[in-house]
Amino acid sequence: LADKSITLMPVVAGVSVYPEYIANGALVVDDSTGLIVDYGNSETILADYASAQEGQAPVQIHDYQDKLIMPGFIDTHVHYPQIDMMAAFGEQLLDWLNNYTFVTEATFSDPKVAQDTATFFLNQLLANGTTSALVFSTSHPQSVEAFFTESQRLNTRMITGNVLMDQNAPANLCVPTEQGIRDTQDIIDKWHERGRQHVAITPRFAITSTPKQLQMAGELYASYDSVYLQTHLAENHDEIAFVRSLYPNHKGYLDVYDDMGLLGRRTTLAHGIHLETAEYERLRETDTQIAHCPTSNLFLGSGLFNLPKTLSYTGVSIATDVGGGTSLSMLTTLSEAYKVQQLQSNPLSAHQGLYHITLGNAQSLVLDSKIGNFMPSKEADFVVIDMAATPMLERRMAQTKTLDEQLFVLMMLGDDRVIEHTMIAGVNRYSRTSAT
Ligand code: GUN
Ligand code: FE
Repeated sequence: LADKSITLMPVVAGVSVYPEYIANGALVVDDSTGLIVDYGNSETILADYASAQEGQAPVQIHDYQDKLIMPGFIDTHVHYPQIDMMAAFGEQLLDWLNNYTFVTEATFSDPKVAQDTATFFLNQLLANGTTSALVFSTSHPQSVEAFFTESQRLNTRMITGNVLMDQNAPANLCVPTEQGIRDTQDIIDKWHERGRQHVAITPRFAITSTPKQLQMAGELYASYDSVYLQTHLAENHDEIAFVRSLYPNHKGYLDVYDDMGLLGRRTTLAHGIHLETAEYERLRETDTQIAHCPTSNLFLGSGLFNLPKTLSYTGVSIATDVGGGTSLSMLTTLSEAYKVQQLQSNPLSAHQGLYHITLGNAQSLVLDSKIGNFMPSKEADFVVIDMAATPMLERRMAQTKTLDEQLFVLMMLGDDRVIEHTMIAGVNRYSRTSAT
């Protein structure tokens, strides 16, 4: 007795590195489950599904001709509390953290700040076409509670956890060593795999957790099969020198995390810009994932990430890292990723870029059995894109001759303005109302 909805439009399903494109495509969603039933050519789909079968609810048809639908975008590293301090002037990583970031994060001791910011942030993700994310909250458990409560209400698939910090940070953000771990344990008990929510153990980075806390985080990680772990790695030269001074007897930055049991298939390390060969090898051996954050690396002057080199060792996802990053748009993020690779003579194709922000990021997060493309039985998280959303885009698209060209223009010039609708498990959770 399922309600079926049929969506008519060209379709890009992020299948393998070469996306599948269907002109006049259609996507079939079962409204009772929020899962994808089928996709294909619209005439075939209409013939197969449009006439209601005996005893079944009528089929609803949503017509988005001239639009493009794609799987929802996935952001693998973003700090929701930092949306209120994006674009803070003048500093590189460590001063930026001390002068701006920690000041803003301390305001999350107020649960109202956490609720208001979580609600605004999740709505902004949808406005940018992002339907899933691996997110940093703050060290306050209520920042996580506020985030999961709103994500559960929207039914978005999200991953977060309380940030573990017990040294080298302001007292109003540090939580005692065992207390931070207990908070994470409580959050796992309450939220892990409840609906579409997942928990990540989240030590901020090697500088702000004591060895004891990193070790306890590793023990907690080892005691679960499906809990995630996220932290930062080798983003900035002063950061790396600080870690070396704290751990003079370790082989390097990654070796600290390795020694504490923090590496593995469900671990995502943000940045990993400045690594030694032995560190790349160890990433490969442990299947640890790297999140590349181009707008952040440029904004904070952190360095140029080598995408093909890192990919030759391990899985790489692409992420915004707001508020070190300067945009929540995964399209804007791809545009900057392209430029970072151009500076190293590694042009990033539209196919590769769009694959990364959909199925590629889903694979990196071990969520590709649920999201990332339009395979039947996956969750119907998708975006309806207006490739001609602005006069500029409309004019530029009119000059294009091939699909590759159109998708490349979308990747370079697209942003939140091209996102017409964002669907979460088949439900419309965002529509762009006014033109800008
Ligand atoms: N390293 C430790 N904390 C942070 C953070 O909040 N942002 C970035 N970009 N790097 C970090
Ligand atoms: Fe970050």
